Amino acid sequence: MSDATQAVSPAGSPGLAGRVLRDPLGSLRTAWQLAASRWQARRCQSVGRLFRVWGKLVVDGGGIITLGDRVRIRASHLPVELAAGSGATLTIGSGVFINSGVSIGAARSITIGNNVAIGNYTLIMDTDFHTPGDHTKVPEPRPVVIEDDVWLGARVTVLKGVTIGRGATVAAGAVVTRNVAAGSIVGGVPAKPLKSSPPSTLKGDGE
Ligand SMILES: CC(C)(COP(=O)(O)OP(=O)(O)OC[C@H]1O[C@@H](n2cnc3c(N)ncnc32)[C@H](O)[C@@H]1OP(=O)(O)O)[C@@H](O)C(=O)NCCC(=O)NCCS
Repeated sequence: MSDATQAVSPAGSPGLAGRVLRDPLGSLRTAWQLAASRWQARRCQSVGRLFRVWGKLVVDGGGIITLGDRVRIRASHLPVELAAGSGATLTIGSGVFINSGVSIGAARSITIGNNVAIGNYTLIMDTDFHTPGDHTKVPEPRPVVIEDDVWLGARVTVLKGVTIGRGATVAAGAVVTRNVAAGSIVGGVPAKPLKSSPPSTLKGDGE
């Protein structure tokens, strides 16, 4: 029997039909929101299950943007921009949360792992777009990688060529210009270690 026809799942928890019967209006709202979210992401090459966006999502460029399962975008008071130029890839893993006003722009490659949290107004880019001394010259992009379980605070800027290691925390307002070690806490301009965090706090450890 499929989920849709089960009022109660074998484990005793209410199945999909049970949830709809209990709260038909809420279920309708959720279904509508899931459909509207998917519509907003229609220019992405693939979108995982249970993708949700609150507010306005801007998807831009001719590149490849992929979103994993359970990605949530809270763009309620400022739009969120996901951009990948022609030939570029922007890959966002599962369980990623993106807050209002975030802009992520790939000229070549930006990879964001699973369960990453991205604070308001954060900017992530793999190119400077201009060259110091000759702003008309477009520099070579350098890939950015943000590994699983990273937390970027509000107003963080991540610049080209940077890898932020698994479980790292980037403090509010930091400008990340160099690689960040897994599990570390960095902050400031340019971002430097503030203090270390125990690796045991990382999700998935010991599993
Ligand atoms: C990174 C953070 C979590 C650390 O918090 P904490 O563990 O309580 O750290 P503390 O306040 O004890 O600060 C530790 C040191 O880092 C410094 N520090 C803290 N935040 C900093 C920041 N954003 N930039 C630069 N330095 C910072 C402190 O001055 C302190 O330095 P000291 O040891 O020389 O006195 C917190 O500072 C932060 O940036 N939070 C982000 C909040 C946010 O953006 N939320 C997302 C909303 S969407």
